[in-house]
Amino acid sequence: MNIQKDKYIRRNIHTYPFNYTYTDFEGFFRKEDASIYIHIPFCSTKCHFCDYTVMVNSKEDLREAYVQALIREIETFPSNPVFPKFRIEAIYFGGGTPGLLTAEQLIRILQACRDTFEVAPDAEIAVEFDPRSVEQDKTNALFDAGFTRFSIGIQSFDEAILKETNRPHNRHDIDQAVTAIRNSGFTHVNVDLIYPLIGLTPEIWEDSVKRAIDLEMACITVYPLEVWENTAYHNWIMKKGQKLPLIEEEKAMALRAFELLEDAGYVTGSTSGYFHPARAENYCRFLDYYWRTWPMIGFGVSSKSAIHQFMYTNITNVRQYIDRINADEPVLDFSTHLSKEQEIRRVMIRGLKVGDVYKSDFRSRFGVSMDLVYGELLRALQDEGYLTDDGEQVRLTRKGQLYSNAVWERFYVEEDLAPAKTGEVKFGLSELILD
Ligand SMILES: C[S@@+](CC[C@H](N)C(=O)[O-])C[C@H]1O[C@@H](n2cnc3c(N)ncnc32)[C@H](O)[C@@H]1O
Ligand code: SF4
Repeated sequence: MNIQKDKYIRRNIHTYPFNYTYTDFEGFFRKEDASIYIHIPFCSTKCHFCDYTVMVNSKEDLREAYVQALIREIETFPSNPVFPKFRIEAIYFGGGTPGLLTAEQLIRILQACRDTFEVAPDAEIAVEFDPRSVEQDKTNALFDAGFTRFSIGIQSFDEAILKETNRPHNRHDIDQAVTAIRNSGFTHVNVDLIYPLIGLTPEIWEDSVKRAIDLEMACITVYPLEVWENTAYHNWIMKKGQKLPLIEEEKAMALRAFELLEDAGYVTGSTSGYFHPARAENYCRFLDYYWRTWPMIGFGVSSKSAIHQFMYTNITNVRQYIDRINADEPVLDFSTHLSKEQEIRRVMIRGLKVGDVYKSDFRSRFGVSMDLVYGELLRALQDEGYLTDDGEQVRLTRKGQLYSNAVWERFYVEEDLAPAKTGEVKFGLSELILD
C-alpha cells in the first residue's frame, strides 16, 4: 500500500488498471459475423480434371437421407460450447453440384440455417449448378426463397472439350440455363471457365472467354487448372504421356482472358474471379470470408471450417456421414489449431489471393504491424514487380496475379512444406505439372 503525503491518497491496485469508454451497447454485444459453406456431393458425371468429393449415380433416397443429415448437423452446431454465437452474412451451397437436389431440398436446408442462426436480411445466398441441372421451375423457386447468387460451371463453349472432359452438358444446355436463370430474376450470376485443358488451344480459349462476355453476366471466373492425384487427368499426364498446353500458351491464355475481361468492363474480385461493377456490387461475399480467413462454418461431407485458429474438416464418405449423424456421433475427420504465426501467414497468403491485404486490418487482428513482420519480404516482392504498397493496401500487380503461386511460396516457412508425419494429413498444396 502506498500513502502519498501531499494528496493523502491511499492507493491500492486491485487489478490491471484500464479505462472504460461510453459504449454503444448494441455494437458491444453484437454477434460475430460469419459465413456458412454447405457441401452437396452429388454430380451427374465425374469430370476428368476434378478432385472434389463427389458421388455420381446417387439415388433419390440417398440424396434425401443426406439432406436430412445435413439439416441435423446444422441444427446441432449451436450446442458446441466452444464457439460464440454468429450472425451469418453469406451462405454458399457448393459441391459437387447442389443443382442436383430439388428446389424444395435446397430451400429446406436454407430454412434450417435461418432457424438455427441469425442470418442477416441482406445475406448473400449462393448456389452452384452445372448447366444441365438448371430448370426454370427450380430457379424460380430458389429466387423466390431468397437465393441471391447463382453460379454455373460452363468450363468451355467447345463441344469437343466438353465431351473430352466428361462434362455433363453441351452448348445447348448452356443457352437454356442462361435463359432460365435470367427469366427467374437472378442478376448476380457467375459463370466458370477453366484453362488449360488437354486439347485446349489459345483460339478455342479466346472464343470461350468472348462467348462468356457476350452473355453479359455479373461475374466470370477463369480458373487455372489444378492437377490433383487420383483424377483421370493426373493419370493421363503422368502415365499415358498426355500433354497440357505448353506453359507459354497457358500464360498467353491467362493474359488474353484478363485483357478481354477488363476491356469489357470487368474488374478483379480475386486472382481468377472478375465482376462487372455495373451489374454487381461485389464478386462473391462468401469468398471474401473464405479467402480473407474470416469465420467460415462448413457443413456436409468434406466441408472445411475455419473459425479463428480452429480448422477442421468433415469425413468424406456420404453413407458414413449419414450413419454417424443419425447415431449422434461426430462427423469430424481431421483438425488443427493454428499457431499465431500460421494464422498470420494464412491471412497474408489467402488475402493476396483475393488481390489485396490491408495493413490496418492486419494490425487490428494481430496487434502488430504488417511492416514489422513482413517489411523486408514486401519490399522484395515490390522490387520484383509482384506487389504494390501504398502504405495501407498491399496489392498484387498483373505480374503478381499471373504468377500468384510464386508470391504465396515466398511466405511459406519450412514447417509449411514439411511432409506429413504419421497420423497427419498434408493439406492445401496441389501438384503443378509443368512441361
Ligand atoms: C463445384 S464446381 C461448380 C459446379 C458444378 N459442379 C460444375 O462443375 O458445373 C466449381 C468449379 O471448380 C472448378 N474446378 C473443378 N476442378 C478444378 C480443377 N482441377 N482445377 C481448377 N478448377 C477446377 C470448375 O471450374 C467448377 O466450375
Ligand atoms: S467439376 Fe463440377 S460437375 Fe464436374 S465432377 Fe467436379 S463438381 Fe462435379
